[in-house]
Amino acid sequence: MRVEVMQQLLAERQQAGLLRALKVPQQVKGRLIRDQGRDYLNFSGNDYLGLSADPAVIAALQQGAADYGVGSTGSPLVSGQQAPHQALCDEICDWLNVEAVLLFSSGFAANQAMLLGLADTDETLLLDKLSHASMIDAALQHPGGYQRFLHNDLASLEKQLTSHSDKAVVATEGVFSMDGDSPDLLRLSQLCQQYQAPLLLDDAHGLGVLGNEGAGSLAAAGLASQTSQCLMANFGKALGGQGGFLATSKLVADYLTQKARHFIYSTALSPALAVAMRQSIQLCRSEQWRRDALQSNISLCRELAAHYELALMPSQSAIQPLLIGDSHKAMLVSQQLAEQGIWLSAIRAPTVPLNQARLRITLSALHTQADLQLLFKTLKDLL
Ligand SMILES: Cc1ncc(COP(=O)(O)O)c(C=O)c1O
Repeated sequence: MRVEVMQQLLAERQQAGLLRALKVPQQVKGRLIRDQGRDYLNFSGNDYLGLSADPAVIAALQQGAADYGVGSTGSPLVSGQQAPHQALCDEICDWLNVEAVLLFSSGFAANQAMLLGLADTDETLLLDKLSHASMIDAALQHPGGYQRFLHNDLASLEKQLTSHSDKAVVATEGVFSMDGDSPDLLRLSQLCQQYQAPLLLDDAHGLGVLGNEGAGSLAAAGLASQTSQCLMANFGKALGGQGGFLATSKLVADYLTQKARHFIYSTALSPALAVAMRQSIQLCRSEQWRRDALQSNISLCRELAAHYELALMPSQSAIQPLLIGDSHKAMLVSQQLAEQGIWLSAIRAPTVPLNQARLRITLSALHTQADLQLLFKTLKDLL
């Protein structure tokens, strides 16, 4: 590409208030971000249960590195999948009551493998309009093509299922990353069953947070893991680590082991991380207080927003977006919050639709009541 084309895009984005740039804090730990010697309250992380800097998880990572080394040194089928990876897979199978788990270097890769691997060339992928970029990118590559149904709209999905009769695969999310809302999974899965369309579910933001032992959105809806043909989730949100996985039947996992290029041709997860993630899952399952603390922060967040007449988008999850609209204004408020010691990034197009820029508040079990009171009081003053 010619440099003038790049320069033009950068100038256009700058002018529209849409230029993306890295912010590099010194340290993100617990509920705080440290930047240039100053501490900020972090309302822009996905460490929903506070596991990322938990001493037991850190100790597991250290011990894992001492026992197995830092890197896996190979792709899974060559030499990369080792005892700690298998122990992690077994732990997830037990947790989610599934037969098999495949590990990936990221949730993005896991989603790509799931959609590209499990939609046949003559099947159309039906995707929620607000699906994550990792699913959209897979859909764009799918030879059978794709269609997007209106967000969480079952009538719109049914219309598409009708027109594709038995040649459709449905993909959606347990909790949507930018809006924080959820589909009616019970009715959605019934529709999929009625039209014999396999369901592929991304539960990146539901796993750990929802359901008994944090087993995720399906468990919270009273549904078995097998309701979806394959479930994708990642370690980078509630579990406080990095990487992703697919949880599914043995048959589907065997099939993907032949076909999924993101699995076959990529270095396996760090074995040290596999040890740490197993520890993190054990804490997630046994320490219900983390979900209780998060849930009471979600309730308090909504109460405070109502009290200060700040219209949060309709979400019951740890993601509580405050719609601002104009991207310049969203950036300005984000900067003003930073001046008051609050780290809350503005989310702008193209991540969200144009003129729907927002402050995407994400909550953690570690936030205190005082943190939330300060956030909403400051937002009220600024808005
Ligand atoms: C809904 C959703 N799916 C997939 C991903 C990708 O996961 P990862 O960050 O592990 O690549 C993300 C994370 O940004 C997400 O929010």
